[in-house]
Amino acid sequence: MRVLVTGGAGYIGSVTVAALCRCGHEVVVLDNLSEGHRAAVPEGVPLVQRDLRDYAGVAETLKHFGCDAVIHFAASALVAESVANPRKYYENNVGASLSLLAAMLDSGVRRLVFSSSAATYGVPEVVPIPEDHPQRPINPYGFTKYAVEQAIRDYARAHGLGAVMLRYFNAAGASLDGRLGEHHRHETHLIPLVLQVALGKRPHVQIFGTDYATRDGTCVRDFVHVEDLADAHVRALDAIVPGHALALNCGTGRGYTVREVIETARAVTGHEIPAVEADRRPGDPPELVAAVERIRAELGWEPRWPELQQIIASAWRWHREHPNGYDD
Ligand code: UFG
Repeated sequence: MRVLVTGGAGYIGSVTVAALCRCGHEVVVLDNLSEGHRAAVPEGVPLVQRDLRDYAGVAETLKHFGCDAVIHFAASALVAESVANPRKYYENNVGASLSLLAAMLDSGVRRLVFSSSAATYGVPEVVPIPEDHPQRPINPYGFTKYAVEQAIRDYARAHGLGAVMLRYFNAAGASLDGRLGEHHRHETHLIPLVLQVALGKRPHVQIFGTDYATRDGTCVRDFVHVEDLADAHVRALDAIVPGHALALNCGTGRGYTVREVIETARAVTGHEIPAVEADRRPGDPPELVAAVERIRAELGWEPRWPELQQIIASAWRWHREHPNGYDD
C-alpha cells in the first residue's frame, strides 16, 4: 500500500515507518518537525514538512502520492502539558485530526490507523482494562484522543471511513537496529529519565507517589516495546474494514511498578541510579494494564519483546549511543 504517515519523524512513527518499508509498503512522511527529527526518516522516504492543519496542502499530498491509507501519529502527547496548555492540545490533536479527516474524505482516502491512548480510559474500574471499559478521561490529553476516536466512529458510520484505533499503553524501548529511539526535547517519561540518570546526565530520578494501593506503593504501567507497537500498525493496515472503527488496546497485559522499572534499569545498566521519593504527579492513574485478548484475536498480534528487561536494554543501547539524542 501507499501509506501517508503523519508524525513519521517522531518516536513511534519513525519505528513504524521502518517496519512498513521492510514489509514492502511505499511510505510518505508528513511531519511539521515540531517534535520529530529529520534524521529519524530513512533515506529514500519522502518527508513532506507541513502542518496537518494545512487542509489544502495535506489533500494535495494525498493526491500527489496516490495514498491508499493514512497512519496518523502526529499529536502532542504530554499529560501535564495538556493540563497547563489545553488549547495547544485541542488545536494540535482535535483540530488537526479533523482537518486531516476532511482532507482524506475529500481525496477519497478511507483507510486510517489512529494513535489513541490508554489515557482515554481515565482511572480504570477494572484492570486489565478491556476495550469496552467506559472512557472517562481525566486530563485534556485524554479528552482530545477520545474526541478524535468519537469523530472517527461517527465518520465510519456516516462517511464509510475504515479505521483501526490503537490505544497505546506505555511505549518504550528503541528500534532493534539501534537507529531509532525516544528523544523528546523536554523529557518527562520514566524510562528515558532513568537512563539519563544512568548516563550521569541527571543526579537522580524522582518517584512520583509511593502511597498508591499497588504492590509496592508506586504506579503500575504496561510497557510495550516500540518494535511491537510498530508491528501492530503494520497488521492494523490489513485489518481495516470500510465503515467500521475498531478500537484495540496495544499493551502486553503485564504491569510493572515504577520501582520495578528503576530496579530493572539498575540491573541492565550496572549503574546505581539514585531515586528520590516525591509527591504524586497530578493526573496519574494508579494502574494501567491492557486486556489483550481483542488485539490478539483481531490482528494475530503478540508482543515479541514483552520482558521489561528486553525493553530497557534496547532503550539503554540507544541512549548510550545517542547521549544527546538526534543531532537536529
Ligand atoms: N514517573 C515517575 N518519575 C518520573 C516520570 C514518571 O515516577 O520522573 C512515573 C509516573 O508517575 C507514572 C509512570 O512513571 O506513574 C510512567 O510515567 P510516564 O510519564 O513515563 O508515562 P505515563 O504513564 O504518564 O504516560 C504514558 C504516555 C502518555 C499517555 C499515558 C496514558 O507517555 O502519552 O501513558 O496514561 F497519555
